[in-house]
Amino acid sequence: MRRTIEFTLNGRATSVEAEETELLLDVLRGRLDLFGARFGCGAGQCGACAVLVDGASTAACQAEIGNLAGKQVLTVEGLGAPDRPHPLQTAFLELQAGQCGYCLSGILIGAKALLDRNPDPSRAEIADALDWHLCRCGVHNRVMDAVALAAKRMRQGAAA
Ligand code: FES
Ligand code: FES
Repeated sequence: MRRTIEFTLNGRATSVEAEETELLLDVLRGRLDLFGARFGCGAGQCGACAVLVDGASTAACQAEIGNLAGKQVLTVEGLGAPDRPHPLQTAFLELQAGQCGYCLSGILIGAKALLDRNPDPSRAEIADALDWHLCRCGVHNRVMDAVALAAKRMRQGAAA
């Protein structure tokens, strides 16, 4: 059924008229010009399309827009901006934790979800949290280093 769905997107009240079964990834990329979440597998198995829904890392390629009314959605565009990057973005850039970059918006979202619930993750916990995210370029070690660096800086910032 087609209806107006209202939700919060990157901190702003947003409303779209859509079929309830339309996928969030299609709404983001096709209607709202937010291209950060990427289409990879389309089957919930690669993490390229990850966004936060009420703080939980979620496959936008599987989430029906009709189920998102009243929810908080965060895409990588809402994580930071060039003039105020999130510590994760700063760390990824510093450590060059990327190659083609296709997987990175999803990985950044997954890493944010992890650090929001666990500010001091072990390397094993970082690996476990990001296990869903596939990277064909093999940047896993640098990604783990960057997440650990961002976590350390965020803890230091919180203590300052
Ligand atoms: S495109 Fe959504 S999980 Fe792969
Ligand atoms: S950096 Fe290319 S897929 Fe991850």
